[in-house]
Amino acid sequence: MAPLPPSNLPPMAGTGAATPWGGRFHEAPAEKIRRFTESVSFDRRLAEHDIRGSLAHARMLSATGFITRQEFAQIEEGLGKIAARVREGSFTWREDLEDVHMNIEAALTEITPAGAKLHTARSRNDQVATTVRLWLKDEIRSQQAAMRKLQAALVQAAEANTAAPMPGYTHLQRAQPVLLAHHLLAYVEMLDRDHRRLEDAHARTNVCPLGCGALAGSTLPLDREATARELGFVDSRGRPRVAANSMDAVSDRDFIAEFLAAAAICAVHLSRLAEDLILWASAEFAFVRLADAHTTGSSLMPQKKNPDVPELVRGKSGRVVGNLVALLVTLKGLPMTYNRDLQEDKQRLFDTADTLRDCLDLMADVMAAAQFDTRAMRRAAADPSLLATDIADDLVRRGVPFREAHRLVGTAVRVAQDSGRDIGDLSPDEWLAISPELAGAADLLRSGARRRLGARATAGSPNPGLARKEIARWRRILNRASGQDGDA
Ligand code: ARG
Repeated sequence: MAPLPPSNLPPMAGTGAATPWGGRFHEAPAEKIRRFTESVSFDRRLAEHDIRGSLAHARMLSATGFITRQEFAQIEEGLGKIAARVREGSFTWREDLEDVHMNIEAALTEITPAGAKLHTARSRNDQVATTVRLWLKDEIRSQQAAMRKLQAALVQAAEANTAAPMPGYTHLQRAQPVLLAHHLLAYVEMLDRDHRRLEDAHARTNVCPLGCGALAGSTLPLDREATARELGFVDSRGRPRVAANSMDAVSDRDFIAEFLAAAAICAVHLSRLAEDLILWASAEFAFVRLADAHTTGSSLMPQKKNPDVPELVRGKSGRVVGNLVALLVTLKGLPMTYNRDLQEDKQRLFDTADTLRDCLDLMADVMAAAQFDTRAMRRAAADPSLLATDIADDLVRRGVPFREAHRLVGTAVRVAQDSGRDIGDLSPDEWLAISPELAGAADLLRSGARRRLGARATAGSPNPGLARKEIARWRRILNRASGQDGDA
């Protein structure tokens, strides 16, 4: 007897009916395999972007004649309903349908038979790559906005303390006087590089894989440029950017790795800022008081006020770095092209995005509420040894070779320390005894950190006048950025 056409075959128990790929299978996956392989529990947050991708694909199928206008209208309406259910939380997610893509397609096909045509010339491989890119493009913009918000909080704190001197440290030893504003603006610069790194990552995320199919494109004449354009995968002149190689397109996760790398660098910056605040909040420094809301007490020691928020920001940088490493290791041995390993990209991506945004957001709050004790900083900055280099510079001005100047001031430090003093305690005669060129050293030390900061003329140095200019420059940049956010 001739075999029956497949459409008349009864489905095997628990197979074809349940999974879109069930046609060639005799058995449904075992329950624990389903649980092991599913991703819908975490990739459902891609729903909105997946629907956007499907809509563009359907519109293109309709324009190229693979579905009728009426079928497109039904698909559009169905996807709209699904989007609304997802937003309201009334959409039923099914683990047996594996992932967000198959859940949405199955729901659409329940709403309209036209749903069965949506996957024409599309694979989940180009679909998931498109969806994640769409999601990440939006995510990068929101991370950049969070970076700007933290920069604004830092600039605000710098502006409120423009002229406050503090000791600058190398090796965590007092080195030379700086300004608190200058110290805070250092973090504004770091965050600016983070922002630019994300801008670069955005440019490489902005390429459309849709139409690349499973790995080898399609025999059907798709209009890839139309879908790319509709989805906003365009360059600055509005020209569509479509992935040039179908095999690369479905297996490339560089764009995620780049985001995770940029995020890891940013998290390391936040960790360093957190560490500065933790140190400064200690009784030994007492340079800052953190708001009660950003600290917690001890269950045992009644006097304690612990800087938990900065500590957790410092701690969470570890997992953000770990997410980058985890993804790179996942990618490292993969043969071309799509492999299911790639499904492991999403939790790393989401975890980094959520963690980084929380850290940026909370550090902005911490900075906005922190009270700097500029008197304590000024007292610490009054340490005369911070001006040892200034005395050496002064000798250079008088024609003493720098190495000789360094040695002479070093001698003064030793003479002072040998008698349990510091260079601020040396009399003019004692300076003169070391070298006649040092006649003015005692006066220079008396002029104090604030005046000496004013003497720092080099671009990029902690001079109050330069700090004011830098604050104004950053204000302009941040105002422009918030104007652009407002327009968008
Ligand atoms: N959930 C999958 C992922 O995240 C979607 C792609 C699955 N493709 C496949 N051929 N199994 O990577």
